[in-house]
Amino acid sequence: MINFKELAQTYKTPLYVYDFDYMTKQYEELKVAFKGRKSIMAFAVKSNSNLSVIKHFANLGSGADCVSIGEVRRAFLAGVPKYKIIFSGVGKSDDEIREAIERDILYINVESEAELLRVELIAKELNTVCRISVRVNPNIDPKTHPYISTGLHDNKFGVEIDMAKRMYIRANNSEHLDPVGIHFHIGSQLTQAEPIYESAVIVADLVRSLMALKIELKFFDIGGGLGVKYNDETTIDPYNYAQLILITLKGLDLTVICEPGRFLTANAGYFLTKVLYEKQNGLKRFVVVDGAMNDLIRPSLYGAYHKIEAITDSKTEATIADIVGPVCESGDFLAKNYSLPILEHNDLLVVHSAGAYGFGMGSNYNTRGRSAEIAISDGKARLIRKRETFDDLVALELEFLQD
Ligand code: LLP
Repeated sequence: MINFKELAQTYKTPLYVYDFDYMTKQYEELKVAFKGRKSIMAFAVKSNSNLSVIKHFANLGSGADCVSIGEVRRAFLAGVPKYKIIFSGVGKSDDEIREAIERDILYINVESEAELLRVELIAKELNTVCRISVRVNPNIDPKTHPYISTGLHDNKFGVEIDMAKRMYIRANNSEHLDPVGIHFHIGSQLTQAEPIYESAVIVADLVRSLMALKIELKFFDIGGGLGVKYNDETTIDPYNYAQLILITLKGLDLTVICEPGRFLTANAGYFLTKVLYEKQNGLKRFVVVDGAMNDLIRPSLYGAYHKIEAITDSKTEATIADIVGPVCESGDFLAKNYSLPILEHNDLLVVHSAGAYGFGMGSNYNTRGRSAEIAISDGKARLIRKRETFDDLVALELEFLQD
């Protein structure tokens, strides 16, 4: 059991706390599920990009799925081997492509024909060959929140099957491109297996038709997306997930690459915030806390539910309240209509499932410094990121003032 009260006293609030042992457990569960095949788990760095977290997974054998050159650099800094690093994203700049090629990562996951041509041009300039995969958009409804759906033609991600085929032919004929992989990622927080299976069937068929053209791929990259329990969702069992992917690959000698983010980190993380005030506007009750949408934006952005646990001596009956932060936006809330006893100043609230897309989506809005991050491992707490100070926030602007 993590002693949240003690952590809040020692490190102050708002605070992110990650259970590294839980991350290990999740990693092993997924890795073992794919044991019938060669596989690489490439941790989706965007879900939690703290260097210590990336390093933790790297130590377990993980690679890294990155969506900016900044994330690629983080992966290198944390010790992820270059041959396990993948760079995806719909809008890579020339500089990003150049650096990824120079760093000789596993492959660049290309998301449009225009991008393929840029990658080819840059590889030519560098007088080298760039390994690529193509992100296929299978046009399958992943049945998740529309903001985190990525596998429909309506979404900006990837290319349709026919286009992907043309891109592979082009890449195969190029002296500067080496098509080694194929990729799809239809969405995040997936709780239904069927859309994943349907997508895998489509993409595996494409692999077969490429083989008929003598284009032999090595990596079958199934993206991330495995959903987790925030509340009472039914989730996909990792073993079943692996099985349904492997069924589609019968007869194909491909290494499976999986890019889990949320599955590894979401339920390892807690966001700690303290109660500042109780207030009532007419019939409406608000609990005002010191954490806000700049720390954890998922409730404001997606209406996402996070379980919230109150650590309090209050014995009053629970009533409904909105839990809101100090940011100057009506949309600044951690929960709406949440049932809580009447709380005291300094009572602690523990927001669960905050390890994925929590800190990383934070901002300095309202000139609020980002919170500290703590790792718990073997019962010991370690500071893995300091709390941002006012000086940190204005440092770059002060440089400017001196002119
Ligand atoms: N691979 C690719 C290419 C992705 O786009 C993503 C997530 C992942 C892997 C990891 O997906 P995961 O296993 O974490 O579901 N901010 C949103 C989630 C955005 C996900 C974007 N892509 C949220 O807070 O729910």
